[in-house]
Amino acid sequence: MAKEKPVILTCAQPTGQLHLGNYLGAIKNWAALLDDYQCYFGIVDLHAITTPYVPAELRKNTLTCLAQYIACGLDPAKCRIFVQSHVIGHTELAWVLGCLTPMGQLQRMTQFKDKARGKESGSIGAGLLYYPVLMAADILLYNADLVPVGDDQKQHLELTRDIAAKFNNTYSPTFKVPEPYKHGSGGRVMSLQDPTKKMSKSDANESGVLFLLDPPNILRKKIMSAVTDTGKEIVAREDKPGISNLLDIMSAVTDRSAGDLEKEFVGQGYATFKTAVADAVIAHLEPIREKCNALMEDKETLNKVLQEGASDAQRRANRTLSKVYRKAGFMERPTLER
Ligand code: TRP
Repeated sequence: MAKEKPVILTCAQPTGQLHLGNYLGAIKNWAALLDDYQCYFGIVDLHAITTPYVPAELRKNTLTCLAQYIACGLDPAKCRIFVQSHVIGHTELAWVLGCLTPMGQLQRMTQFKDKARGKESGSIGAGLLYYPVLMAADILLYNADLVPVGDDQKQHLELTRDIAAKFNNTYSPTFKVPEPYKHGSGGRVMSLQDPTKKMSKSDANESGVLFLLDPPNILRKKIMSAVTDTGKEIVAREDKPGISNLLDIMSAVTDRSAGDLEKEFVGQGYATFKTAVADAVIAHLEPIREKCNALMEDKETLNKVLQEGASDAQRRANRTLSKVYRKAGFMERPTLER
């Protein structure tokens, strides 16, 4: 039998509208893995309720997120996309893992400290503290070999590794200790209005953020009004964060090197360059937007993807969970009539 391909798993919260930073920094890179790995992509709605939210929006965002993933190249014929709350086992495993996780380690997580800063402990849900344990469960439930994560999630992955090792030592070898997966390319996309900050949905200034579903005229307007630097050369340089960011963006959507683009624009003004960046971004995003809009009209296809994703994920999850429950000393579950 052919050797099984390694398992890659990654997840993201259903934030609704994805932006160019999500796409170039993450999703586009994930799409490149489909042929070489068994890929699982989770839309983690259980994580999304750790901070205040609106239920109807969560439901809607979960579906939009799925449509955008598929439109961005996560071909459901080659990977499994699932919604976290559809698979029984994430919270069950999180409970068992949580009982092995030192409280102090959770309190020391940078993301928890950032989110809890300045708040009374009475106003912070315990879910925020427990968040990394649920994330560990997401990963270990599938016995993932590799996990692509952004820098802000590295600490959570380290914790996952600690918890996996702790379980293996306390009971017996059960989990693979997952490794971070590093993408070769696809760097950070910065805000168009403040190129020293990452492009982010929570950016107060929406004109700095290119959403994948922005229509072409909006994309063009945002790019043309991007903050540029003093001087007039089109070069990637530390003292030119605005132009460097636009060069990186254009390079990513055209698959040409920044150096190559610099040569093309020698002696040209910022306006000409920005027009070219806008043309390139629009050309790249237009098919994605069209595909996504078509999918949003086709609920049947979306539901089928979720159904298949969940049933495959559930099969894998069941194997892990029953092993874990047995090792933890729980009695075998009686067969129930349904
Ligand atoms: N915490 C991650 C984030 O906010 C999302 C996440 C949840 C995740 N579970 C995961 C990422 C498992 C990778 C693997 O980005």
